[in-house]
Amino acid sequence: MNKDDHGQGPAIILLHGFPFNRSMWREQLVFLNSNGYRVIAPDLRGLGDNGSDANVAAMPEMARDVAQLMDELKIEKAVICGLSMGCYVAFELIHLFPSRVRALVLCGPRAQGPDEAEKASREAQAQRVLAEGMDFAVESISTKLLAQHTLNKKPDVITRVTEMVLNTDPRGAAAAQRGMAVRRDYSGDLENISVPTLIIAGRDDGVRTPEDADFIQRGIKGSQLAVIDDAGHLMNMEQAEKFNHVLIGFLNELDH
Ligand code: MLT
Repeated sequence: MNKDDHGQGPAIILLHGFPFNRSMWREQLVFLNSNGYRVIAPDLRGLGDNGSDANVAAMPEMARDVAQLMDELKIEKAVICGLSMGCYVAFELIHLFPSRVRALVLCGPRAQGPDEAEKASREAQAQRVLAEGMDFAVESISTKLLAQHTLNKKPDVITRVTEMVLNTDPRGAAAAQRGMAVRRDYSGDLENISVPTLIIAGRDDGVRTPEDADFIQRGIKGSQLAVIDDAGHLMNMEQAEKFNHVLIGFLNELDH
């Protein structure tokens, strides 16, 4: 499993979204290292530099990969921070391996499972990406993924996101779509989550609604919600400084 692993101190594991890779956490890696954290950012199954011929990359399998990586790195327990698809993996990880999770950070999360329309749409996307490659997926960057503020003012972020999408292996993307299409409904898991939890939402997220974040906050007792202005679905890249500030505030509370 390809990964970044830098720094020393309490471990935080960053789980990327779809169809992206570990490079989306660049600003968090540097920032958290300089604040005394060991940061591990893997490429999830079939994505980033990880090749895979699997037809379906299921969320529990991705979570098992992360637990195995923790074993290899001799990390007993870590803060798990996921973004979007990374949150599905985080939900599976805390469900399967509760003792390995010290705290959760859920960025742009959704708890509900897929309905029939979502399943059909994901299968259609999987087939399209296998037939045509990733090019068509670039459109979603301007229609859904990024805030208008980012589209107007941050060409470097647009370039990075475009490159991540285009560099994704179509087979990995199709497998992850199919994995997300068969994911569980995590709504019932929420009341069992007892670790400190921070939810981070982009105010202009075109993929998630404010209700998605509110639902999770109501479900996880004691959880906190931070909403970042001028940010969309990729809030950690779009507003890295604000995001890092919110994140370190939460982490400092854990460590003091
Ligand atoms: C992501 O950013 O990981 C995706 O939007 C997840 C999804 O399609 O549900």
